[in-house]
Order: sequence, then C-alpha cells, then structure tokens
Amino acid sequence: MSDSAKSVMVFHEDPEKLHVGTMGDHCYFIPFAKGQDPFGQREESGLYESLNGEWEFEYYDSIIDMPEDFTDMEFSGRIKVPSNWQLSGYDIAQYTNVSYPIPYDPPFVPDDIPVGVYRRSYGYTPDGTRRILCFEGVDSCLYLYVNGRFAGYSQVSHHTSEFDITDLLSEGENLITAAVLKWCDGTYLEDQDKFRLSGIFRDVYVLSRNAKRLENYRITAEPDDKMENGKFTISVEGIDAKVRLYDGENIAAEGAVTETESFECTIKNVKLWSAESPFLYRLEIETEHEIIGEKVGFRKIAIEDGVLKLNGKHIKFFGVNRHDSYPDTGYYADRAKMLKDLLLMKKNNINAVRTSHYPNAPEFYRMCDELGLYVIDEADFESHGCVNVYNDLKWTYENAYNGIAMIAGDPLFKNAILDRERLLVMRDVNRPCVIFWSLGNEGGYGENLREGARLIKSLDPTRPVHYESTHRLDDTSTDVLDVVSQMYTSPADMKAFLENAEEKRPFILCEYCHAMGNGPGDLEDYHNTFMESDRFCGGLIWEWADHAVILGYTEDGKPKYGYGGDSGERHDDGNFCMDALSYPDRRPHTGLRETKQVYRPVRVLKGEQDGEFKINSLLRFIDAGEYLDCRWEITFDGGKACDGTFDFNLPPMGETKVYIPEATQEYEKDAYIRFIFTAKNGYGVFEDGEEVCFDQIKIYTAEKPVVSHTGPCPEYEESHGKYRIKANNTEFVFDRRKARFESISVNGREVLTRPVEYNFFRAPVDNDTMKNDWYSAHLNDYIVKVYDTSVREDGDCVVINAKQSFGWSIHQPFARMEAEYTIDGNGRLDVSCTAETSNKVEMLPRFGMRFFLPAGFGKVDYYGYGEYESYVDKHQASYIGNFTADVSEMHEDYIRPQENGSHWGCTHMTVSSDAQSVTFSQPDGFSFSASEYTQEELASKRHNFELEKCGNTVVCVDFAMAGVGSAACGPALNDRYRIKLPDIRGNISICFNSKEG
Ligand code: GAL
Ligand code: MG
Repeated sequence: MSDSAKSVMVFHEDPEKLHVGTMGDHCYFIPFAKGQDPFGQREESGLYESLNGEWEFEYYDSIIDMPEDFTDMEFSGRIKVPSNWQLSGYDIAQYTNVSYPIPYDPPFVPDDIPVGVYRRSYGYTPDGTRRILCFEGVDSCLYLYVNGRFAGYSQVSHHTSEFDITDLLSEGENLITAAVLKWCDGTYLEDQDKFRLSGIFRDVYVLSRNAKRLENYRITAEPDDKMENGKFTISVEGIDAKVRLYDGENIAAEGAVTETESFECTIKNVKLWSAESPFLYRLEIETEHEIIGEKVGFRKIAIEDGVLKLNGKHIKFFGVNRHDSYPDTGYYADRAKMLKDLLLMKKNNINAVRTSHYPNAPEFYRMCDELGLYVIDEADFESHGCVNVYNDLKWTYENAYNGIAMIAGDPLFKNAILDRERLLVMRDVNRPCVIFWSLGNEGGYGENLREGARLIKSLDPTRPVHYESTHRLDDTSTDVLDVVSQMYTSPADMKAFLENAEEKRPFILCEYCHAMGNGPGDLEDYHNTFMESDRFCGGLIWEWADHAVILGYTEDGKPKYGYGGDSGERHDDGNFCMDALSYPDRRPHTGLRETKQVYRPVRVLKGEQDGEFKINSLLRFIDAGEYLDCRWEITFDGGKACDGTFDFNLPPMGETKVYIPEATQEYEKDAYIRFIFTAKNGYGVFEDGEEVCFDQIKIYTAEKPVVSHTGPCPEYEESHGKYRIKANNTEFVFDRRKARFESISVNGREVLTRPVEYNFFRAPVDNDTMKNDWYSAHLNDYIVKVYDTSVREDGDCVVINAKQSFGWSIHQPFARMEAEYTIDGNGRLDVSCTAETSNKVEMLPRFGMRFFLPAGFGKVDYYGYGEYESYVDKHQASYIGNFTADVSEMHEDYIRPQENGSHWGCTHMTVSSDAQSVTFSQPDGFSFSASEYTQEELASKRHNFELEKCGNTVVCVDFAMAGVGSAACGPALNDRYRIKLPDIRGNISICFNSKEG
C-alpha cells in the first residue's frame, strides 16, 4: 500500500474511465434469505444491511487542501447519509438552470473541486459470503476505500454503483471511506435544471451474497395479439433457479430456468397491466441460497400507424415531470416521500410521470407498477449549458441554440453517453411501468445520441425510444427515435405537425404548460388539442413540485422557502425552479387542482335535446360506470333547485346518455347542472366516495334583470373643487382635480381608506413576460390628467362626467378615458367608462377599479367561479356558484409573490364588515379579488415570508383581467385571453349598505 489515498484519484477528468472496480450492471433486485418473504420491504431481508445513518464527514472547499491520506485522519464533523452536504451546513446550494456551474472546458473541471470525505466503520464476520457495497446515488462521483485501500471509482450521479469489498475486509471493525467530488467530467453530462447539490444522496447498503449467485435476469411478459393469453419468459445469468408465477395466491406457472435455457410459459386469459388496472402477478425466483420476489405486469407496447398503443389500445399520457427535490432532504426521496408524490399524482388523475431528467431511485418504479403510472424513464444526461459557452466556434451563430449539441456529437463523450444509456436500461428493464426509454434531456442531437438509441434498442427491443431532438449540429437522422418529442410547442404548431405527411411517428409533448407561479392557463386548450388526433400521445406538465431550500423559519414555525440567489451563488437563475403544480412541501397549487379537472376520466357534454347529456369516457381499459358514482345538482344564483343520482355503464372510450327532466325546466335565474363523480369499488387510489371530478353545464339562461333607479333624486353641491352628493344615508365626495371619489360614507361612517382609483396593473405573474413594458408605461404608478368634470341632474339621478388620461413622464399617456358616474336616491353608484389605450401597451394585465376599505371588511360573498382562484383561461377547477370566504384566506401564497386570488365570471360580490357592506354587480360578469396585500407589495417582494399586510382590505374589481397562460417557458398568451385593445370599457354598479339602524 505505497500509494496515498489521494494519489489514486485520477479518474474524474477522464471520460473513458467511468467506473473502476465496480460490478457488472444488472436489473435492480434485493435478494432475501431462503424462508423469508421476498415481497417484504428490503430492510427486512436477512441479506441486506443498511449503511444509512451518521457518517464521519470532512468538507474541503478544494481538493487541493485534502491531506494525502485522508482515510485515516481525524474527522471533525458528522453528516447524515443519505443527504446533500449543501443542506447540512457545508458549501452553498446553487440554483442554475441552463448555464453550467463551472467553466466549460471538458473533460477538465476547476482545480478547486469541493470534496466531501465520508467515513464509517463496518463490522464484518466472515461467513463465506461476499459483501457487496451498493451506493444508489452519489453526486458527482466517488472514490471508495476500505481500510485505507482503494476499492474503486464510479460516476453517473443517479445510478447504482456496486463494489465487492470482501477481499478488503478483515474480521471485526473496518473503515469504509468515500471521497465524493462535487465536479467531474460527468458534470458536463448532468446539467439538469435543478439546485446543484452534492454528496451521497441515496441509500447505501451491503448485500451478503454467495460468490455463485443470481447476477441478472430478464423478464418479458406480453399478451398475444388478441389480448387473451400471455407469454411469459425469464432468462437468468449467474446461477440456475426455480421460478413460480402466482396469480394472487394460486400458482399460475412454475418451472426451472438455467443459465443456458430460459423458462417460458403461456398464461391463459391473462390479466393485463395498465395504469387504470395495474394487475401484477407475483414471481418467486429461488436459487440455492436466495429467494427473490418480482412483480410481473403483462402489457404490450406498440406503435402502429403512428399511434402509440398499450395492449392494443391507443393511450395518451396525462402526465407530469418530476424531479427528486425536497426542501429538507434535497435529492433524497425515501420510500414515504416517493409514495406521497405518487399517490398525490394518482389522486389528481395523472397517469404518467417522466423521471426528469435522470433515473429515480429503483424502488420508485416498483411503486409505479403497483399504483399504475406510465413512466418515461430518462437517462442521466443533459448538456444544456453548451448553449451559453460562447467561445467555441463549432456552430454558426445564426442558430446558436444548436450549440446545445456540442457534446451530442463529440467523440470525447461518446462512451460516457453510451454508459448512461446502458445503465438506464440494465437497471429498469423488468419494470412494467416503463413505457418509453428517454435518452436524456436537452443535450441536442448528434451521433452520440443516435448511437445511444441504437444501443437501447439492442438491449431492449420491446420499448420505444424517446428523446426531444430538435437542435442538432450535424445532419444525423432521428430515424432511431420512435416518437417525435417536443416541448412547449403551441397547440397551433402541434396541429401543423399532423399536416406533415412525411412524418409517420406519434407526437408527444414531453414538457408543456410550464406551471410557474400563478398558472398554467392553457391546460384545457392543450388537452383539447391532444384529443384531436390519435397521433398525439399526450404530454407531461412541467413540473411536479417547486424546488426550494429552507432559509429559516417564520415566527409561527413555517419554513421560509428560498430559491436561486438566496444562498449567495455567483450565478443563479432566480425563481425558475418555482415552476410547479405543487409547493415544495407538496401542498397543491391551484394549478394542480386545474390539472385534476382537465385530466378527468369522464366528461359530460350537452346532448342533442334538452335535458339530455352525454358522458364520455377517456378511460381505455375499464368501465367508468363500475368505478364512478354520479350525483347531479341544479343550482342558480342564491339556491339549489334539485339533485339526484343515476347509475350508468360506460365502456372504455365509450359514450352514454342520460336524460334529466329537471334540466328542461325554466328557472327564475340562469341555472346550471353540475355532475359530480365520486369513486367506488376502489377506483385507483381514491377512497370510495371521494370526488374524482365534476362537470358543470348551463341549462337555462334567464332574462337579464333590468335594475331601475330608485329613490328621490339625491342632493348635490359643489365647493372647493369637490362635488358632494347625498343620497339617502350615503354621502359621496368626488374630487374634481383628480376625477375620483375620495370619500364615501354611510350613516356618517367612512367606507374608503383611500380614494378610489382605476387599475391597469397587476403584480406580474411569472408568465407576464412583458412586464417590463408595463413598468416603462408606468401602469403601476401613473399620474392622472383631468381635462374636464361636470355634474348634473338627470331624471332621478345625479350624474358626474369626467374626462381624464393616465400616464407618466417621457411618453404620451397610456390611456384616455371618459367616465360617467350615476348616483340614485338610494346611494347606488353606476360606473360606466370607456377608454382608449396607446400603442405603448401591447398587453394590458387588467382594467378595473381599486378600493381600499378598512381592514374590518373581512368577509366576501360572491356568485361566480370559485372556490379556487379563477381566470379567463384558468377556471377548470372552479365552477359557478355562491361562495363565501374570509379575505385572509383568499390569498394564494406563491413563494415569489404575484397576482393571485382573482375570481372570474362573477355577477355580484359583497364585501362586508360587522357594520357595513359594499356590493358590486354586473350581469355580464366581472373579476374581483379581495386581499390584505397591495399589488405593489406583491410586486416588490421576492418571497412570501417578506410580505407585509397593508392594514386595509384591497378590493380590485376588474372589468377585464388578462389570462395567465404559461409564457414563462411556453407560448405567448393566446389572443383569446388578452384584453382586447385599444378600446376598453367598464360598467359596474355599487351599493353601499349599513347594517346599523
Ligand atoms: C425545459 C427543461 C426543463 C426546465 C424547463 C424550464 O426546457 O427541459 O428541465 O428547465 O425547461 O423550467
Ligand atoms: Mg435544461
């Protein structure tokens, strides 16, 4: 042992040396001792010893500072394994999306590589078995030593590295040391959009196994073309075995498999696996010393005429992209965390998950098998940062983005990329849930990827190969990719794909509906596009959960979530990691509720005749009527007319009709029927009785009420530039100089805490990519110019007219307005205004009025889209009804504060305090929000925990509110969801009431 521990560390800048001293790749399994239940948790296996727990730890900012013989030094710290050291008090958590965290200089990495040295003792009693040390994930690479002697090296962060350490062990206590480097040549292949965290981040364990043992096995389980009988095959490597296949408690087949001869059998009337009906057979593989439990799902994946099929039927992915990312444990997802995510997906009608952008822990796939989720299993490969490296002239600058493919075509990385593709397939090949292999993400396309696809096909001809391959430097053809995959393509461009006669493959959106902040607003539009053709195999929303680090805790014990830039990084990408359907702790965003509704298994439409409704099933394999109960209710503003239930049969992809006579009646107001579907007979992971989805349909349109003005004509006077109007117990003061109401009181009690103002601004949502135009036009802090005001009597009312404009210095005004205010004898105020906007404003976020009311105005009643926040393009999860809410609960607490909590399609809304109330109404519909925060506050703070309440209730009543879309990464907001410019108008009636005598 002449070499120092450090002197053998020579592999991390050598892309030809990826694994040294590791064992052969094989499918994931954990053997159990004979006599044990091989279907128990792996910790129960007598052959499994967890090395999770506390390890000694020493952190160095630079590898240069590491001592030569670090394996037998004194350690000053301790760390929990698995974890990321950046979340354990060492180094900082950097969030970078596209850009590399290191200078681009492959295969070299900076001289000062941060290193974490881990050490623990391991007790060994020789018993004739080999000791295999397994690391399921280490970022970015590790050098392993046992008792100071070099045992091996491995990279590829999201893959299992196994070492047979037996020959290095002595009886008694042994020291295992792992030196983990933050960067290695693999860093160029792991440029995924995530917090860059390091360390031993997945489980570590030792398996005790005989030298002659089961090394690997391959299962295929496919139905025949008629989907009647299933063919099962297993082959083994390393040892002969007995196999038994169980259907429940009954043996369906059994036999022997040898190293040279596989075992085959046919299962009559086979039960098939799908996400809707994830039936699994149990397989026992028994060898001389071990027993292994496997679950087998029979299913056949095929692409026929450009259509993706499972078990002979076209399937679509209604999916999400998921990262391993938790604010407390970083990249480590234990079983409970994975299960929580997957159950939540299933409860939100999600049927597919892409393991963006690397393989997940091996147990993850077993859970997907059990629960029924289609998986796009992705290799640990992304080299996106190449787009920003500039100084290389390998691509033309006319299309600089093609630079993304620098590595994809570079022979330097060929083996390393092939290694990643091979590892993916070798580990997960037996999992029924895996529907597509994915070569990786955002590495452009080139010869290395093409070779990777070929390699995968040679390792597994049963599954399609997926890769988003838009950008390439060379003219390598994509004919080895089985699906055309894109991201964020607009629905219109998707349709164009169908017109390309040359393209015969199915189309998938591996990412769409960028769910950043308040959004996405285009889920339903995408869904409808997916449904237009069987060539579309659906899509996967970006992404499942916000990534965050915990910066501390609020006084009431809530975590303060931080994002890029909060850790003092030299380069960061801000809050682009807060772009998901759920918060870091998996509380749902309203976007997830929207997803649940859009991904619903059944949809109800109006039938041909009155009272008739059609229920369509989107399920492909099971009868919806067997698993769903339906209850309906007819409601109108202010009440419920009737309700009922019905039974139905609904074959897969079928349609059934129901007739509801009550839906043909006349009602005094607009009436709606809502069908609510709840689970029965154990549908998916839903509890029986739990709501799965709903549909609401308008069944009756009543005449719009004509409200006439009442009461004697109000009194009015003008003095000192103000109009004072007294109407019964309500008194208005209108400031002529500013053309606005500055006081409104009822029974002498003031309602306003600030003058009423017109509102053209919203705290930008993450998708408001044009927000800089809003600031430069000063929508947020305009100055009013008043040209003219007048007051007059008109019939029984007093009418104020005003002409004004809104602007700031530098530019012409951004809007000119004429407004008319009509006040009747009961103090009802009708606002009517028209305005014209300038061409400085291409898109207006909102047009409405803002009222500051005393904080006591804490309760809201409304009729419109509730209970979740709703926008013109984001209201699938909400429905029209009467809702009541506390203002304090109407705020949706996005981690980067932004516009939230609006309600669309309202016809009236009342905000009240104990003493007073204000009612807004408009039969054509308006949006409103009521908040304790101002839009200025929301727009100015980086984090939710910094928000300060303004001490008032801020009511925004919007004649129009723009949609939210998903433009943070997706297409620009559709015209349909924009406020039509330049001519805008608003109408609203406002009544002020006193509850006091
Ligand atoms: C995609 C990428 C994802 C993520 C997303 C933006 O282009 O594949 O990893 O970065 O954009 O949030
Ligand atoms: Mg990327």
